[in-house]
Amino acid sequence: MNSQFDSKEFRTVLGHFPTGVVIISGLDKSGKPQGLTIGSFSSISLDPPLVGFFPGLNSTSWPAIAESGAFCVNVLAATQGELCWRFAKESDDRYEGVKWSPSALKSPMIDGCVAYIDCKVESSSQIGDHLFVVGRVASLESVAGAGNPMVFSKGAVVTTSPLS
Ligand SMILES: Cc1cc2nc3c(=O)[nH]c(=O)nc-3n(C[C@H](O)[C@H](O)[C@H](O)COP(=O)(O)O)c2cc1C
Repeated sequence: MNSQFDSKEFRTVLGHFPTGVVIISGLDKSGKPQGLTIGSFSSISLDPPLVGFFPGLNSTSWPAIAESGAFCVNVLAATQGELCWRFAKESDDRYEGVKWSPSALKSPMIDGCVAYIDCKVESSSQIGDHLFVVGRVASLESVAGAGNPMVFSKGAVVTTSPLS
């Protein structure tokens, strides 16, 4: 075990823990759609229904979405690699050419995702160099026939399929 680790080593070792990939979407106060790619998403509680994720303190999209008090979790399909990278890179308009429709809480639901979880912001607290954002689930759906969810491991989108 290495106790003398730097940020590169930290990222490399933690990258061995595979995650799903979501785009957290919402509207800023001008009504423009915003969104960012997130791997640190998790289910938290069933009663009450809570989910959460960890945006970095240097995120520009999350504070803009947070002001609206709502966000939608767009669970990416394995085939949506282009969207995964697009929403992780700087851009004036990450939604250019992206088809979406508004959720009940008006956050963008991006076409082609395997599931959507529409949330109100329940709480947000700083933890290290990130925020811990908790959302209360207002409505949700999975999409029949949308294929397998994306899995991200060791810095890349990987292919997975059920064993049986
Ligand atoms: C697969 C993947 C997972 C990511 N997970 C997170 C995450 O959990 N938290 C985070 O702050 N950034 C995460 N990022 C990086 C953000 O998407 C990236 O920093 C983005 O530029 C933030 O956009 P913003 O500054 O517009 O908010 C991830 C990127 C990728 C490709």
